[in-house]
Amino acid sequence: MKILFATPECAPFVKTGGLGDVSGALPTALAALGHDVRVLLPAYRGMKVAGEVGDSVDLPAEDGWPAAQLLTVKLDSGVTMLLLACPALYQRAGGPYVDASGQDYLDNVRRFGFLSRIAAKLGTSASPLGEWQADVVHCHDWPAALAPLYLAHARERNVHGHVAASVLTIHNLAFQGVFDMHHADLLGIPGYWRGMDGVEFWGQLSMLKGGLQFADAITTVSPNYASEIQTPEFGCGLDGALRWRREHLTGILNGIDMQVWSPQVDELLPARFGPGDMAGKTRNKAMLQAQCGLAPDPEALMFGMVSRLTSQKGIDLVLARLPELLEGGAQLVVLGSGDAGLQKALTDAAARSPRAMHVTLGFNERLAHMIEAGADAFLMPSRFEPCGLNQMYSQAYGTPPLVGGTGGLVDSVLDATEDPHKGTGFVMRTADEEGFSNAVQRLRRAWIDPVTWRRIQANGMAQPFGWEASAKRYVEVYADAMERATPKFF
Ligand code: ADP
Ligand code: GLC
Repeated sequence: MKILFATPECAPFVKTGGLGDVSGALPTALAALGHDVRVLLPAYRGMKVAGEVGDSVDLPAEDGWPAAQLLTVKLDSGVTMLLLACPALYQRAGGPYVDASGQDYLDNVRRFGFLSRIAAKLGTSASPLGEWQADVVHCHDWPAALAPLYLAHARERNVHGHVAASVLTIHNLAFQGVFDMHHADLLGIPGYWRGMDGVEFWGQLSMLKGGLQFADAITTVSPNYASEIQTPEFGCGLDGALRWRREHLTGILNGIDMQVWSPQVDELLPARFGPGDMAGKTRNKAMLQAQCGLAPDPEALMFGMVSRLTSQKGIDLVLARLPELLEGGAQLVVLGSGDAGLQKALTDAAARSPRAMHVTLGFNERLAHMIEAGADAFLMPSRFEPCGLNQMYSQAYGTPPLVGGTGGLVDSVLDATEDPHKGTGFVMRTADEEGFSNAVQRLRRAWIDPVTWRRIQANGMAQPFGWEASAKRYVEVYADAMERATPKFF
């Protein structure tokens, strides 16, 4: 199969969260199954992509869109990166979505409308790569979500001969790409698709809704989240649209990239370790304590967090129960960035107890690995969580997670109180302070019994969190979507 991935981020080249990890790892797993996978990614400023540089193709300016280039880079994994170079849109200080001061770029509708448009083109006979026309265009989140609409439009007009099937993956329904409706002209959305059955969302234009209406198949990143988003509580206003498409909506649990997130091979760790030899974990903990200025106590229960600092992640619950969390000499290390209020509350708390709590603000890949490896337990009390990767990384690193009872966390963590033999972590029973506190107490009880704790660690480290099984599920979804997208005349 010729598969085009269309994504706004892809590790290790550019990453703000789990979507970057998925876009880095899933194409590799699909290529290993024998598929021809190309990843369309904007060429942001300062991005370095190491690989074999191939052809570059000019994309002429047309219909109000700027001229651009597609740069081809073949990676060792066999995956080909297609970097969409358009300096006017992508060469900027700041991240993929926000400027250096953290504000959304004002022209995001144009920046990601363009990404969607080129993605769709690569799935038609008008493909800028000529012979290479995707069979499936697999779009990720709102920034690529208009591609299914463009492909549906091409299919309807049948002007381009070949038209690929489209698959849209929702990584987070809370981000929808909602803009003023007057942009519909620029985006080339036909008048009859500007209403409720098209892109319209409370009078505005929703890129994600456009994708949900027109994708041949929709997936999201865990089975549990696939059910949750069909309810008003988790549907972010799109639950009706999702229920309408439920026959074509599948939840596929994310995997983890074992080349990058495995304590046996992790090159970012000072000491490597594995299930049979945990001495390295103890050394990482000591180094993490030293590096963070915490009391150098090997017996202290050390909690770790690596997170975008947003209300999604339940940071407020941790802040509300800090005294209880740090009781008895326990420690907390936090790495994160995001909401200014949460950043301040965390740094203020750390300043009050510098030997027990440390906060690093910003994005730091090495420290993220160090926390997964050096902490004893990982905190992820999310209010909602489409899949979550950190709870899987922490299990692989012998760092049992305490998680919210929501989304993919439920699909990937087995509660050790409920199942003392196979449990891998602690799942909150209610999404509030009491639920958090109750899970902390259950975790502490397990921690003080070394035999119990070692069993929970070992269970987590034995979980098969690789990508292979999920990649095969995606191939089935692609095949279904292709079947559905093929016109049947008789
Ligand atoms: P989300 O995508 O909602 O942020 P995930 O758990 O799926 O949550 O993935 C988060 C990814 O981003 C993980 O790889 C995590 O290590 C990484 N990450 C989050 N915040 C930081 C940070 N401040 N520094 C380094 N890595 C981070
Ligand atoms: C989103 C979700 C997270 C998920 C990630 C990758 O950022 O918040 O739960 O793991 O996408 O799919």
